[in-house]
Amino acid sequence: MAKEKRYKKPDLPISTVKGLDVGTAFIYSAQKAGSEVAFREERNAFFDIEHSDFTEEMFKKSNVKYALKGNRLYIVGEEAIKFANLFGKNTRRPLRDGVISPGEEDALLIIELLIKSIVGAPRSKKERVYYSVPGPPIDANFDIIYHQNIIGRFLENSGYSAKPINEGLAVIFSELAKDNFTGIGISLGGGMVNICFAVMATPVFSFSVARAGDWIDEQVARVTNETVSKITAIKEANLNLDLAKTTLSDKIYDAFYIYHNHLIEYILEQIKNEFGKHPTPKLDKPLPIAVAGGTAKPKGFLQMFKEGLQKTKLPFEIGEVKLASHPLLSVVKGALIAGIAETR
Ligand SMILES: Nc1ncnc2c1ncn2[C@@H]1O[C@H](COP(=O)(O)OP(=O)(O)OP(=O)(O)O)[C@@H](O)[C@H]1O
Ligand SMILES: [Mg+2]
Repeated sequence: MAKEKRYKKPDLPISTVKGLDVGTAFIYSAQKAGSEVAFREERNAFFDIEHSDFTEEMFKKSNVKYALKGNRLYIVGEEAIKFANLFGKNTRRPLRDGVISPGEEDALLIIELLIKSIVGAPRSKKERVYYSVPGPPIDANFDIIYHQNIIGRFLENSGYSAKPINEGLAVIFSELAKDNFTGIGISLGGGMVNICFAVMATPVFSFSVARAGDWIDEQVARVTNETVSKITAIKEANLNLDLAKTTLSDKIYDAFYIYHNHLIEYILEQIKNEFGKHPTPKLDKPLPIAVAGGTAKPKGFLQMFKEGLQKTKLPFEIGEVKLASHPLLSVVKGALIAGIAETR
């Protein structure tokens, strides 16, 4: 079952528009419900086992999300992790590096099912859904056109009117309202890091790098000779990068620190390069930076990021550097806010 969370947000007007964030690791939806915003989340993963009538019956009784294909039962979402662990295997993933995985033959079947269950039915005819899409990757040889169109088509087929919004811009909508939606939004996810520079909610440029949380997990697993799923579980349960910096005796934590640090330096270098390709912005105020996404969640991450900023000379004055209050929900919240702002 998809998890639901609610947060008070009385300052957002009631509106029939929804936000959707189809990420490599998680899929989220957001909608206004009274004075609150209701968020639904699900793991973007699945695992297949052989079909039996008895197992299918059990799944139905326990509300396990599943699909049937041939003689295979596909367990979808959080439950897939439990089953994969039971069999000592990894889950299958519909997305890789932020977009629909070309190597996963059942990707479309699962994504459509997940989208339908997470956004539900439209509450009005052609209700709008703003869905996040990555920016063009600068270090990988693929584009996002196919991904953007397929997600849009699944939503339209369900009766929605679908509108894409850049993932980095969504962070700006979510976190930089009091800065007039001017600044840099960074979403550090599972498959990608998305970066957008916008002035008054107008994107000047956006891009992505195909290296994020999954990349960290793969590198740490390789150098410590552990499985990727074990490394991911350790990271999500209790990684503290402040402690990891000094805990040199622990091989896993040491590797986490090294690869987070490397990722931060890599992203900042790419931001510097990208600003170098555009005219230096003439701004009357220092530029704020908002960071979000699951990879920015571990304790100590923001401090590491600020230290990285001090080392990298960016061609503008930096204002406040802040972490989203709910890093995993920032993109979907931003998509919802953009939708509300544009449909008013
Ligand atoms: N508590 C946590 N501590 C550390 N890392 C976490 C935590 N929770 C999730 N993550 C990591 O954050 C990443 C997922 O973040 P997020 O949901 O922002 O990505 P996504 O939107 O699914 O992916 P992408 O934007 O790259 O397509 C994964 O690498 C996951 O392991
Ligand atoms: Mg994301």
